[in-house]
Amino acid sequence: LKRKKMNQGRGNVPHVVVVTYPAQGHINPLLQFAKILASKGLKATLATTHYTLKSITTNTTTTTTTVGFEPISDGYDGGGFELASSLEAYLESFRAMGSKTLTELIMKFSETDCPVTCVVYDCMLTWVIDVVRQFGIVGVVFMTNSASVCSLYCRLNRGELSFPVEKGKVISTIKMSGLPPLGFSEMPSFLAQPGDPSPYLALIMEMFQLLDGIDWAFCNSFQQLETELMEAMVGLWPLKMVGPMVPSAYLDQQIKGDTSYGASLWKPTSYKCLRWLDTKPQHAVIYVSFGSMASLSAKQVEEIAWGLKSIQRPFLWVLKEPEKKLPKEFLSSIGEGETEAGIVVTWCDQLEVLAHQAVGCFLTHCGWNSTLEGLSLAVPMVGVPQWSDQPMNAKFVEEVWGVGVWAKRNDEGIVMRGEIERSVREVMGGEKSGEIKRNALKWREAAVKAISTGGTSYKNIDGLVEFLKAEKN
Ligand code: UDX
Repeated sequence: LKRKKMNQGRGNVPHVVVVTYPAQGHINPLLQFAKILASKGLKATLATTHYTLKSITTNTTTTTTTVGFEPISDGYDGGGFELASSLEAYLESFRAMGSKTLTELIMKFSETDCPVTCVVYDCMLTWVIDVVRQFGIVGVVFMTNSASVCSLYCRLNRGELSFPVEKGKVISTIKMSGLPPLGFSEMPSFLAQPGDPSPYLALIMEMFQLLDGIDWAFCNSFQQLETELMEAMVGLWPLKMVGPMVPSAYLDQQIKGDTSYGASLWKPTSYKCLRWLDTKPQHAVIYVSFGSMASLSAKQVEEIAWGLKSIQRPFLWVLKEPEKKLPKEFLSSIGEGETEAGIVVTWCDQLEVLAHQAVGCFLTHCGWNSTLEGLSLAVPMVGVPQWSDQPMNAKFVEEVWGVGVWAKRNDEGIVMRGEIERSVREVMGGEKSGEIKRNALKWREAAVKAISTGGTSYKNIDGLVEFLKAEKN
């Protein structure tokens, strides 16, 4: 009844509010999803924290005009997560203030000619479903990890996997249907962490608990990429693939003018990067980035630096506070101007860089968005994973999809300069490089196909759009 009331009268267009966790790796896929819904004739609004919206407004060169932006509160409007005393404190505050302000936002729209008919929410924000149920509208959870990673959490939640998966104690290798055997260091770090579980794991378990009672659950991946896994999970969860969430200009132009995500939390140094890349030969450059959250140790940064130097190929490295982090001798050794060995920038438009013909290798932390972007743009990868889902993504990059090499850590947990050099040389001209490039092109083709008209992801998104349109009439 409530749902009927929210849908009745006023305006014929379904209105979807997309709620995202305020981190770049979450904003990008969720905003992209909102843009796709808008391109299909729905009204789409992205809701995120006050502080995040301020950063987006300050730093984004071209933001999208098809999606509206609305603030909700995490309780730290003046500075976001940085102001919280701990992750637990932040999540608790976000739960309380987010529930209150999202409720107010939905109420505000109910007075207009476009009441909210559906909320798509970031899987990290488990409390959203309670707000959604209060209004009786449609709720869609959106997973920002690969389906393979999600399947492990799902099985842990179902009691089919035990925690902690401690080295040499419980099990050192797990074998789950639809997945390759996973060693201790290949599992998501929250599972393979000795001692007390991370607060993230409690949140993840809550996410998967909720998955049981939900009608709509989407994942930023595509069916062809994880076919075996999806077959093994039939009947165990409602997850549907809708990815890759990459601006459509990079996937053969579905939405006109969609050349960037459109919500950058830092100012990109686009002009400098592109001008410099333009001076380099095809596939000559190593692009190095560890996403938006990773904080590498000084030793790790140093090893990457000297590893890159010894490869003697041009590199473009995204690193916050380079003067503080990089050895002085390294900085002075790379030279200046167009003849320099490499450039270091604090932030760039990653897609613009990956799509440039001069880039031949992506040295990445294997965050899920970066991995999908590398796959979608057919750029061979070298994985230097740090935590969370990244080790498992790196394993898939090397062993399952064959699009790169995982550079391994030593016993102290550092990827040494020699290993960096070996791995990059392998993907840029080494024995396996031809096969890696062929696989990369194959996966790009599959990604484009999945999201194009009639593709598997396209159909799954259309399923929701048609459902919401039918509810409106
Ligand atoms: C994290 C996790 O690592 C990821 O696995 C999870 O699923 C989502 O949150 P993050 O570590 O920031 O995200 O990495 P990633 O998922 O790769 O997302 C980073 C995003 O920032 C990418 O979309 C990338 O294109 C963008 N980026 C990165 C830039 O635009 N410019 C840069 O200079 C670096």
